[in-house]
Amino acid sequence: MSQEPITLLKNKRIVLGVTGSIAVYKVIDLASKLTQAGALVDVIMTEAAEHFVTALAFQSVTGRPVYDSLWRVSGGGALPTHIAHVGLGEGADLLMIVPATANTLAKLAHGMADDMLTVTALAARCPLVIAPAMDGGMYMHPATRTNIQTLMARGAYLIDPEEGRFASGLVGKGRLPETAALMGHIRRVMGQTGVLAGRKIVITAGGTREAIDPVRYISNRSSGRQGYALAQAAVDAGANVSLITTVRDLPHPLGAAQVRVSSAAEMLEAVLEQTHEADALIMAAAVADFRPQTVADQKIKKKDDSDEAPMLVLTRTADILLKVREQRERTGYPLVTVGFAAESQDLLTNARAKLERKGVDMLVANDITAQDAGFEVDTNRVIILDPNTQTPLELSSKIRVAEHIVSRVGEILAKKSP
Ligand code: CTP
Repeated sequence: MSQEPITLLKNKRIVLGVTGSIAVYKVIDLASKLTQAGALVDVIMTEAAEHFVTALAFQSVTGRPVYDSLWRVSGGGALPTHIAHVGLGEGADLLMIVPATANTLAKLAHGMADDMLTVTALAARCPLVIAPAMDGGMYMHPATRTNIQTLMARGAYLIDPEEGRFASGLVGKGRLPETAALMGHIRRVMGQTGVLAGRKIVITAGGTREAIDPVRYISNRSSGRQGYALAQAAVDAGANVSLITTVRDLPHPLGAAQVRVSSAAEMLEAVLEQTHEADALIMAAAVADFRPQTVADQKIKKKDDSDEAPMLVLTRTADILLKVREQRERTGYPLVTVGFAAESQDLLTNARAKLERKGVDMLVANDITAQDAGFEVDTNRVIILDPNTQTPLELSSKIRVAEHIVSRVGEILAKKSP
């Protein structure tokens, strides 16, 4: 699957230091995904790495020269050797050693500089990410443990390897995570100085499920995609994110804490618990307004000898944003609240009324009758309202809408509590 551009990574210089482990095959995919996301990826290979894959493989996916020797570079357009050994590290936004072998970790821990990668690591002033991959016994060896601790004490970010089966047939901890997880870690590190750094942001996603009996429920068409895009955008902006979600089939944004709920009542409890000291709440969830008054203990059975169907009596659920409004009036938290409005008629009039009734700082209104916006699609067409302004956004992906909302939340927070 091709990778969408990622605003956070656009034109960022990422140096991948590739060392000699069989896990290197996964890094060709990573280099490709980073490039598709908009990053400028420079690959440095150690001699050992070149026993597993060629420089040409990386050059083909990044479209940039690959550096594999202090004394020689492959491909046109490469930095001259006398500049490359410092230039690559100096201008980089991120240096990631992936896969990182025990040997390279040992060299980095001791400040050795006998190849292009280790020289670059000494010259670099950007965040360093290490993603070890090696046989389990090697990873757990006290020498490797100490080297990793030394690097972390100096500020390196460790991507812990996964447990599993190695190419050798042994089982243990030392497998390089898959590309999606590696991308998630990169976003987390690159985002840590963003507009929401140090802020706690609570986000709700998905439609709630209101039980009828142990097998049936009432729900709605919300897919949760806008809420998940918001959670990822908030992680990209450096926030500590709590994602309160009913969704089961979307990839979880790495770095966001997940709180699984099902009904409106469970969501209310989780929201009040999570927001009592939060900076912001973004209520993207489609919360049921009605639930069955009683929930049958056993599955409701049909009768073979009659066409009779049960009558469902519904009752109101609590309005979560109104409860949060009460909490905020008492405690001041969350500092900022954002609501959504799903409307099928009189969009602006209804949305403005909702903004006031719910006491939110910002309301994201969308017309759910449009084919290309709202439920179950990847795009959204929204109007963002605050007490004084209304800003229509063009049809955009839910990711871009999320980025816009997150940056507006950052601005409101900066004004309220710098
Ligand atoms: N919301 C909520 N609690 C509910 C229902 C909705 O907190 N019980 C939140 C939603 O998450 C959303 C906002 O309120 O952020 C507006 O939701 P929406 O469904 O558009 O409006 P309703 O409150 O249901 O109002 P109406 O029935 O008038 O459309």
